[in-house]
Amino acid sequence: SPLKEQNIFFHDHTLIILIMITILVGYLMINLFFNKYINRFLLEGQMIELIWTIIPTITLIFIALPSLRLLYLLDELNNPLITLKSIGHQWYWSYEYSDFNNIEFDSYMINYEKFNINNFRLLDVDNRIILPMNNQIRIMVTATDVIHSWTIPSLGVKIDANPGRLNQTNLFINRPGIFFGQCSKICGANHSFMPIMIESISIKNFINWINNYS
Ligand code: CUA
Repeated sequence: SPLKEQNIFFHDHTLIILIMITILVGYLMINLFFNKYINRFLLEGQMIELIWTIIPTITLIFIALPSLRLLYLLDELNNPLITLKSIGHQWYWSYEYSDFNNIEFDSYMINYEKFNINNFRLLDVDNRIILPMNNQIRIMVTATDVIHSWTIPSLGVKIDANPGRLNQTNLFINRPGIFFGQCSKICGANHSFMPIMIESISIKNFINWINNYS
């Protein structure tokens, strides 16, 4: 998704700065070990102290401003086509498509008894989320018992599901396929077994799915 792309750009940007600092500091430290310069009367140096305070400040600004940009970008939601409600339970997710005749279903992980060669171990669910690709989708997240977290790394989405609260995030999938996620708040004994599975399809097929849903 475009937001995941922005996340990656920011990660790379920050990593480059980090590498530059590591190389510089590493070089200076190695130099300190192997030279023989000694000055017993050096007690202060106003100018160098000023420089090594200002330079990190400027460096931090170069990380903080893109970080803030990304933060606001992730929160932006423009004209979503549909809304998906996602409710966390111990230990499964349930989903509601309130836009279309209130479609709702539970989504459990497929257990070993029903397992076959086509299933993804610990990630497959019995009822997948079906979403149209290339569309803005609003996600409303909440929970009924304890805090869960609706997390899909490949789409750059991670949002907590709190009981008594409604959180909002957005999703944009720019290709068809299956996308996996997991709960990422320690929510109890079966925390590891409440995966999220999104099937992204074309809008035509999505309308077809909605029409034939029973
Ligand atoms: Cu739900 Cu961890």
